[in-house]
Amino acid sequence: MSKILVTGGMGYIGSHTVVELQNSGFEVIIIDNLSNSSIEVLTGIEKITGIRPDFENIDCVDYVNLDRMLESRPDIDGIIHFAASKAVGESVEKPLLYYHNNLVSLINLLQLMPIHKIRNFVFSSSCTVYGQPDELPVSEQAPIKPACSPYGNTKQICEEIIRDTVHAARNDYKAILLRYFNPIGAHPSALIGELPNGVPNNLLPFVTQTAMGIRPELKVFGNDYNTPDGSCIRDYINVVDLARAHVVAIKRMINQVSTANIETFNLGTGRGLSVLEIINSFERVNGVKVPYQIVGRREGDIEQVWAAPDFANKALGWKALETIDDTLKSAWAWEKHLAEVKAEKENGHE
Ligand code: UFG
Repeated sequence: MSKILVTGGMGYIGSHTVVELQNSGFEVIIIDNLSNSSIEVLTGIEKITGIRPDFENIDCVDYVNLDRMLESRPDIDGIIHFAASKAVGESVEKPLLYYHNNLVSLINLLQLMPIHKIRNFVFSSSCTVYGQPDELPVSEQAPIKPACSPYGNTKQICEEIIRDTVHAARNDYKAILLRYFNPIGAHPSALIGELPNGVPNNLLPFVTQTAMGIRPELKVFGNDYNTPDGSCIRDYINVVDLARAHVVAIKRMINQVSTANIETFNLGTGRGLSVLEIINSFERVNGVKVPYQIVGRREGDIEQVWAAPDFANKALGWKALETIDDTLKSAWAWEKHLAEVKAEKENGHE
């Protein structure tokens, strides 16, 4: 059985990937510092898969502890590296925190890989590297644009660090860079999903919290863009579809399907949806209202971006399968699950 280390495996995309890995027969070790996740995620994963994954609370910037952990768990076949700080706005306020967390974590892992004879690496990258592309849909060949935030810059620099490292190591490393578009939704069981820290920055958690009455109203950032309804367009991809792509990517390296030592894939659906389309579809499929107000543009927002996922579809044999309606239903089911858990806790404390 192949053994995979998942950093940030308690987080949103990480936890869904752990589920798909375990369901595909991989043995998983999770490391996570729980800075943006909860230990209860382990129970969700266990309920879905019947397996409680091996977990250690470790920060990837801590080289000594990482080394010790890898020493105690030999024969790891690959690493999927999710652990990173990811809030665009916070990165503008605290750039050094972002450069430190995201770059040092990566460098530590890459340094430790040859020491512990780990050869395969999957990196969580983002379509943010394309900025506002000149052509849509955007393919992997599109030029990298200057980053709009320190967070975005860390993704670009990390990609370069991985490229240089793989190149220097000749055939000792293989890496796959996965550029995510906008992951949304939750596991169909509603046992794991996104756990936003405080007020959500991203659209979907804000939509579900507003529908639940946690937030009085959603602010739609701008309706004067050059798009059919004036609101921004994104490629929203179901998180389980996204998770499945990681399993395919790690298998591709372990089974040496490709001769390339480094490959980059766009992970999106190939379809762009506007903010207003998302709100309308969410209301329609779930039968709930999302009060909203149009406000001014949000600084740094890209007008429109969606993926050309053809290379991933062909080379990986992977395709985003879930419909947007089912995805929006899963997001709502997860928000309702969170409300139930909260109510149970409050009742338990009375
Ligand atoms: N939006 C609103 N109101 C909100 C939140 C978002 O109208 O309360 C709009 C945004 O203006 C944007 C769209 O919803 O048009 C999606 O916004 P998100 O914040 O959910 O996602 P972004 O596309 O801005 O950013 C996401 C990730 C980043 C990543 C980027 C890559 O959050 O980490 O995709 O493009 F870098």
